[in-house]
Amino acid sequence: MTGPFPTSPSFSGYNAPSRIECDVYDLEVEGEIPADLNGSWYRCGPDPQYPPHLGDDIYINGDGMISMFRIEDGHVDFKMRYVQTERWKAERAARRSLYGKYRNPWTDSPEVKGKSRGTANTTPVWHGGRLLVLKEDHVPMEVDPDTLATRGEFTWNGKLRSKTVTAHPKIDPVTGELLLFGYECEGDGSSAMCFLVEDKHGNLIREEWFEPPYVGMIHDFAITTDYVIFPVLPTTMDPDRLKAGGDHWKWDGSLPGWVGIMPRAGTAADMKWFEVPTAFAFHVINGFNEGTQAHIDLMVSNRNAFPFIGDITGAEVDPQEGVPYATRWSFDMTSTARDGGFRSTRLAEHPGELPLVDARRVGQPYRYTYVAMIDPAQRMHMSGPTYMGANMIGKVDVAENALQAYPGTDETTFQEGAFIPRGPGEDDGWYINVADRHDQNRTDLLIFDAKRIADGPVATVRLPLRLRNAFHTTWVPAT
Ligand SMILES: [Fe+2]
Repeated sequence: MTGPFPTSPSFSGYNAPSRIECDVYDLEVEGEIPADLNGSWYRCGPDPQYPPHLGDDIYINGDGMISMFRIEDGHVDFKMRYVQTERWKAERAARRSLYGKYRNPWTDSPEVKGKSRGTANTTPVWHGGRLLVLKEDHVPMEVDPDTLATRGEFTWNGKLRSKTVTAHPKIDPVTGELLLFGYECEGDGSSAMCFLVEDKHGNLIREEWFEPPYVGMIHDFAITTDYVIFPVLPTTMDPDRLKAGGDHWKWDGSLPGWVGIMPRAGTAADMKWFEVPTAFAFHVINGFNEGTQAHIDLMVSNRNAFPFIGDITGAEVDPQEGVPYATRWSFDMTSTARDGGFRSTRLAEHPGELPLVDARRVGQPYRYTYVAMIDPAQRMHMSGPTYMGANMIGKVDVAENALQAYPGTDETTFQEGAFIPRGPGEDDGWYINVADRHDQNRTDLLIFDAKRIADGPVATVRLPLRLRNAFHTTWVPAT
């Protein structure tokens, strides 16, 4: 038997572990599934297998659970499985939790010393004919795209030297390449970063290592036609703190930020590091370059936005300082100034997170981003890692600083959605997301016409179970 999970916010209410692996054939559909919508929507998030042996834990430390909605000729089937990592298998065999704090191997039980700590709980990505599941502190896991059975660790046949790979890779829609990076590449507590390229056929063709100005939480990056852009911001790691059993991350507002910009045609030796004002950013919207300017658009807040990351001074996290806005950081690549002629422009007055763009516009100029939003005027519900579920879906026009929104109901929160192209226009397509029904303890899949999100869904697909808040998703067309 296993004991009860804690009653803390990471483990209770809508955040209660599900631990359900299941198949549901032919979900109930209200409305009409669009005839041209055929493919698989993969979602990944944490779902702890066992109660934490240290008493409590943060939401993002749970075991990876991957789910799939397969949409075919107007029918929708659902499947959900754990990603069977080395960590998951060790705890399964022991029938209890063996791993300790988030990204701190010095807090593990002795019997798992040296074993992988990877949870594979963040992002599914389809490229090179493979479905990989990613989490930024370990190597990718490969999963069968039809059965969701775990195939094992994926290291390009052992060619990968880095021990870590980001959960925010970018597929360049022009070259077909998958661009990735790693940080803390030699394991938790190390400083090295790397840049990786997988060609369109799935071969690892580039791995270059470099050192950032300091080790920050580098969760996401941007690509443009000519550059890759790495934001290094002061959510910092301290190896001595780890060895003492402390938290991996602490916000250090005394440090500036740095943005590294490397020409894709060059090498790490050509990287320019530009100093930027202290800020917090977790997710990148997009990047592009024009003339001598390189732009990275991200969700920026003044300070750390996460209640589970402490301040290095012990100060309380101020929720107002953590509100993220879509922001463009621009650099002049001919500038010799320490800040590269840095300019910051707010793109939207509507806070949001989990931004996504049309995959055909990645690295290119673009107009629309779809975000999960919190409208303080609407009812709030606890869900996900910050305990504040998004209660509105937004489609932000960054060219016009305009918002189209779908508020759902008082009993609904949303997660990260996906945009599915239909025609050539940037918003000519479908937008899908899940709606957590807090009054019914279950979840719906909603399908919108992306041009008219405010009109509400054209189809609602009813699930008979609750889907815990996932992190990231990927749509793979049937073709
Ligand atoms: Fe993320």
